[in-house]
Amino acid sequence: MKTGSTKRKKPSTEFNLANYDKECESFSWGSVEREIGWQSGAPVNIAKSCVDRHVREGKGDRQALIFLKDTGSQVYTYRDLEKLTNRFANTLKKLGIRKGERVALFLPSIPELYISLLGVVKAGAVAIPLNNKYMSDTVKGFLEDSNPSLVITTSQLYERISGTGVKFIVVGDDGENGWYRLLSNSDDNPDPTELMNREDPLLLLYTSGSTGNPKGVIHVHEGALQYYKTGQWALDLKEDDVFWCNADPGWITGISYGIWAPLLNGVTTLVYNGPFEADKWYNILERNRVSVWYTTPTFLRLLMSAGARVAKKHSFRSLRKILSVGEPLNPIFNRWSQATFNLPIHDSWWMTETGGIMIANFSCLPVKPGSMGKPVPGVNAAIINESGEELLPLEMGQLAIKAGWPAMMRGIWNDSEKYGHYFVMPPWYLTGDLAYRDYEGYFWFQGRIDDVLKINSERVGPFEIESKLVEHPAVLEAGVIGKPDPLRGEIIKAFIVLDSHYSWSEELKQEILHFTSSKLAPHLVPEEIEVCSRMPRTRSGKLMRRVLKSWELGIPYSDLSS
Ligand code: WTA
Repeated sequence: MKTGSTKRKKPSTEFNLANYDKECESFSWGSVEREIGWQSGAPVNIAKSCVDRHVREGKGDRQALIFLKDTGSQVYTYRDLEKLTNRFANTLKKLGIRKGERVALFLPSIPELYISLLGVVKAGAVAIPLNNKYMSDTVKGFLEDSNPSLVITTSQLYERISGTGVKFIVVGDDGENGWYRLLSNSDDNPDPTELMNREDPLLLLYTSGSTGNPKGVIHVHEGALQYYKTGQWALDLKEDDVFWCNADPGWITGISYGIWAPLLNGVTTLVYNGPFEADKWYNILERNRVSVWYTTPTFLRLLMSAGARVAKKHSFRSLRKILSVGEPLNPIFNRWSQATFNLPIHDSWWMTETGGIMIANFSCLPVKPGSMGKPVPGVNAAIINESGEELLPLEMGQLAIKAGWPAMMRGIWNDSEKYGHYFVMPPWYLTGDLAYRDYEGYFWFQGRIDDVLKINSERVGPFEIESKLVEHPAVLEAGVIGKPDPLRGEIIKAFIVLDSHYSWSEELKQEILHFTSSKLAPHLVPEEIEVCSRMPRTRSGKLMRRVLKSWELGIPYSDLSS
């Protein structure tokens, strides 16, 4: 077990969270409301706290969002954002969108996505960000489940939702349904902001489980307390920071820490939605003087594999904090990061369902490479056994959180039963992750209890992929696993049982791949397909993906399960 620590450069008093133990003893979430301008018991709106509050406080000229393009950049100050989001919220109201109605955003991470999302929330509606990588079947499934009053999309992406009958607005279209035309017909006055109950929903975000349909996780305005405070404590954001979170808003990281946390903290946030290229990434960090960078092991691996020569061309004088989320951060990342940036990487752990960061390596504490860190003050995390009893240090069990933190999901859309499964052992919220805690209170990730995969650090349910594979006439049964990959963490491997009318050939394989790529986002198309004579199933017929994994890894199933 690794317990080595990495040297710090700065005295801990310079960090927003200076004394971890003291905060753990005295902190309560209620104390945060004043810091974001909320009055006790009064209605609120997170979008107003993110944008208008800074303008009222005389910081309207500060840069809020910078969209990086290969040909220059597009800057929005907090004042620009206030005006545009007001306009958009007024547009929505004119279109008849009311409090609590849902508006889906099927857009790439362009300025219109950020303006629309904040506008939707200002208007009191619920935003549903849909990852623009998703293909027609998936998006249509989400739309059917959430039944939005309106979808905002681009003319290119529109093709994937045509035929659904949902009303839509199109960015980049000059017609009646054009986003810009509608916006220019509205005004930023009167203030459109609906004041909300803190428990009112603001976001519905779809994520995957190991079985069944994806779930629409519901988040509420109250979460602002945690987005703000974890931005301050875990990301250590300060007013002058230039912050870069390279996650897409189709994933919760790109919302909670690409929008809420930095805007609530009044910092400048960069957005870049181009393809990965190591030199480009280093350039973004260097030229924009990024001071805090929130990334994922996927990107870190890509940078690492590009080699030291690319990194050596750059200097990162402004960079003072790097964080990671989404997948295990092996100690090797920290060694590489010290050599490349002269900084450690601070891991953080959380889930779509937790809404915000729950466990992190804080700047004021030594980083233990390979560990996720310690719980955020105000968060009560434990390792429990199958009866819900807390285990001792170094004993492995399920990571569980005492329910009731501000950013906790408040429901699964249309599925109270699924929601209930997370809370079957009060007072715990069950994470489905395996971990242990060491004697100093650091948590160490060990794996998932279910069969969920991590592809590009995003969560992927094997069931979604299997369902598409079996739609091909040659595929009788399918089982999907994550195959360990040195560069990408995991790749998708599918085992299939062929229909007896077909025989296996390279041609058939290509045909199946082509078929699935028309139905699945590109990163969800299996990289490997292997034919087997039967699928391992339990007596009740449940697919045993772990047996497939043990076949793949060449180890006995019993060893794998232990
Ligand atoms: C995994 C939203 C190891 C974990 C941020 C969790 C991690 C799932 C870490 C949530 C980490 C997240 N180390 N594993 N630091 N952070 N995970 O909802 O299994 O897409 O349950 O993430 O990612 O996935 P989600």
